[in-house]
Amino acid sequence: MKKNKPAKPAAPAQQDVAAQLGLRPGQSLELLKALHILTREGKLNQDSRRKLKQVYHLYQFIAPLLEELSANDHPVTLADHGAGKSYLGFILYDLFFKNLGRGSIYGIETRAPLVQASQQLAADLGFDRMQFLNMSVAESTQADFMPAQFDIVTALHACDTATDDAIAFGLEKHAQALVLVPCCQAELAAAMRQNKALHLARTPLAELWRHPIHTREIGSHLTNVLRCLYLEACGYQVTVTELVGWEHSMKNELIIARYTGQKKRSSAQRLRELLEQFGLQTALAHRYPLSGVAAP
Ligand SMILES: C[S@@+](CC[C@H](N)C(=O)[O-])C[C@H]1O[C@@H](n2cnc3c(N)ncnc32)[C@H](O)[C@@H]1O
Repeated sequence: MKKNKPAKPAAPAQQDVAAQLGLRPGQSLELLKALHILTREGKLNQDSRRKLKQVYHLYQFIAPLLEELSANDHPVTLADHGAGKSYLGFILYDLFFKNLGRGSIYGIETRAPLVQASQQLAADLGFDRMQFLNMSVAESTQADFMPAQFDIVTALHACDTATDDAIAFGLEKHAQALVLVPCCQAELAAAMRQNKALHLARTPLAELWRHPIHTREIGSHLTNVLRCLYLEACGYQVTVTELVGWEHSMKNELIIARYTGQKKRSSAQRLRELLEQFGLQTALAHRYPLSGVAAP
C-alpha cells in the first residue's frame, strides 16, 4: 500500500512573519527586502536590526507630528536631508504617506548613485509622492523649483554642517517641526583650536578642551547647544533626548523643535554670550544670524 506524503507545513502568513521580526503593522516586507534591511530569505541581520530599530524609534517621534500636521486634509510635506539610502523616507512613506493618499517626501542627498537608486526604488514600488534630489542641503534651500513651505524637516546623521544647513532650510521654509540627529561636527572645534577660546584660556575651564579628542567632543556638544539656543531664539520649542541606547550608536542626540512663534530673547542673548566667551563670534556668525531677535 502506498504511503501518503506528509503535507508540507503551510507558509506563515505575512503578518506572522512581520510580527516575529518585530516590524510595525503595515510595514511592507518587499520594501525592507529592496532596502536590503531584510535578506532575500526574509531574515534580519545584526546591522539591519540596529538600523531598523533606530528608524522605528525615530518614527515614534515623527508619527504624531505627521498626524497633527496632516489634519484637515493638509498634504503634509517633509524634507529629509542627507537622506543616504533613504531608509527613513521610505519607511515613513510606507507606514504613513502611502495609505493617507496625500502629502509628499523630498529626499536630498549629494551622492548621485544613492539618489538614482532611491528614484528607481520609488518608481518600482509606485511611491509616486517621493522625490529625490541630487544636491546639497544648501542648494535645495535656494532651488526655485522647491516648495516655499515645508511642514517637517528631518536630518538623520547628516554629516558635519549639513545639520546646520538643514536648520537654515527649516527656517527658510517655515517648518512646523524639525527632527535632527546630528552627526560628527568639526567646524566649531576647528575654530576653537585656532583662537583657543580666548576669554576662557586662563581659566580652569580651558582644561575641557586641552586634549584634541576633548576639543572634538566639546566642539560637538557646544555646537548642539548653540543649535538649540538658535532654534529657541527663532521661535521654536526644543526638546533634546536620546535616540537609542549608547550601545547602538555614539551619535544619538535627538533634537526636536516645534514652531510656537515665541522667539526667546533670553536664548538669543545666551547664544551671543556663549559665542563671545568662546571667541567664536566671527567664525560662526554666519550660522546664527540673530538680527531679527533683540537682546532681552
Ligand atoms: C551618515 S549618512 C546618513 C544617511 C541617512 N540619513 C541615514 O541615517 O541612514 C549622511 C549622508 O548625508 C549626505 N550628505 C553629507 N553632506 C550633505 C549635504 N551638505 N547635503 C546633502 N547631503 C549630504 C552624505 O552623502 C551621506 O549620504
